[in-house]
Amino acid sequence: MPRYDIVVFGATSFVGRLVCRHLLARHGAQGELRWAMAARSRERLEAVRAELGPDAAAVPLVMADSGDEVSLGAMVGATRVVLSTVGPYALYGSLLVRLCAEQGVDYCDLTGEVPWMARMLAAHGDTAARSGARIVHCAGFDSVPSDVGVHVLQREAATRLGAPCTRVGMRLKAASGAFSGGTVASLLNVLREARADDETRALLADPYALCPREGRPSTEQPEVGLTARDALSGGWIAPFIMGAINTRVVHRSHALRAHAWGADFRYDEAVMTGGGVRGWMGAAGMGAGLGGFMAALSVPPTRWLLERFVLPAPGEGPSPEAQERGFFDIRLFGLTADDASLQLRVTGDRDPGYGSTCKMIGEVAVALADGIGEYPGGGFFTPSVALGDALVERLEAHAGMTFEVID
Ligand SMILES: NC(=O)c1ccc[n+]([C@@H]2O[C@H](COP(=O)([O-])OP(=O)(O)OC[C@H]3O[C@@H](n4cnc5c(N)ncnc54)[C@H](OP(=O)(O)O)[C@@H]3O)[C@@H](O)[C@H]2O)c1
Repeated sequence: MPRYDIVVFGATSFVGRLVCRHLLARHGAQGELRWAMAARSRERLEAVRAELGPDAAAVPLVMADSGDEVSLGAMVGATRVVLSTVGPYALYGSLLVRLCAEQGVDYCDLTGEVPWMARMLAAHGDTAARSGARIVHCAGFDSVPSDVGVHVLQREAATRLGAPCTRVGMRLKAASGAFSGGTVASLLNVLREARADDETRALLADPYALCPREGRPSTEQPEVGLTARDALSGGWIAPFIMGAINTRVVHRSHALRAHAWGADFRYDEAVMTGGGVRGWMGAAGMGAGLGGFMAALSVPPTRWLLERFVLPAPGEGPSPEAQERGFFDIRLFGLTADDASLQLRVTGDRDPGYGSTCKMIGEVAVALADGIGEYPGGGFFTPSVALGDALVERLEAHAGMTFEVID
């Protein structure tokens, strides 16, 4: 039997430290859940463990470097689940995914790097299916609220409306939070890859990038313009920066569920800015701001200025007070083929990217370690397909999230 249930690889990262804090608060250092903190430097690991307080003193430390197959293989061999926060994943995550797939060890992470996920799936999907490893990318704010939210909406649609929603729109109603340096580094790395490579650009533009080639639907997916009037919510909307990740994950869930929501299932994500002139101005401002930000990141001089003076550096992120004050409120609007409608509210009680994300991925890892699962065997799963309703219950009980149908 492996020595640990969960190893948190990247325990020294901004978000990794929060994950360790969550596991310590929920399970203690020497409780039933046997977990360990891993990183490449013993000195930094010891400093992080000391920061967590005296209760953490008994948490074991594991040394592993993402580029060193020997130390990484030993870490993978010692645990049932690897939870990785070492990103950008395209730079530091590939060997780890390969080893987990080969050794049949469950794995979850916080990547939002769609081209990298597509590459991992193509390279190691069959190996994971054979070994029984469950690989679960996107186990944080990208894409748990969207992916698990759509799962709950469809479950409720089946019960209440007797049919799936063939059209679903996720709308961010309100949120408070900020980015960390690691997230910025990952975004910049995706943009760098996209500039250098046609295939990466094509993957980024493909809503079905994470779906199996065979049986891929040809349904055209809705695209949110910079400013648009929204038939689903009745107000104005602007693009949601995480939509390009979450939509791909939701379509993968649909494919893994054998297209149970219909071959013409359509899904998009946007930010709601309200009705009237004020709503239009909000959407126009947000659309222009996002367009300007992405344009500035793609040009070397402005990118340098942003990285140097505006964006957080690796290891930095929102303060504990900002995480505590943070929250999110998401609405999922569903329509069946007969135009019956259903609305679901998904909320979180901390800032989306860190205070809430650390609890989401912590619960995903514990559920994997507990052997919970709806889908037989191994492979590359989304959070909702890997863990289903059991994850919904755990997110509500332990991660400060709610999933509630609105009449
Ligand atoms: N999906 C979401 O909602 C969400 C939310 C938050 C974060 N994220 C993602 O999570 C990742 C981490 O973000 P962050 O801000 O916490 O990052 P960060 O603070 O910059 O930390 C990066 C981590 O990677 C480790 N690392 C770098 N090279 C390594 C190597 N060769 N071997 C082992 N470890 C290595 C660093 O270890 P050292 O301490 O030794 O340098 C550090 O622990 C990013 O990819 C980010 O995009 C996603």
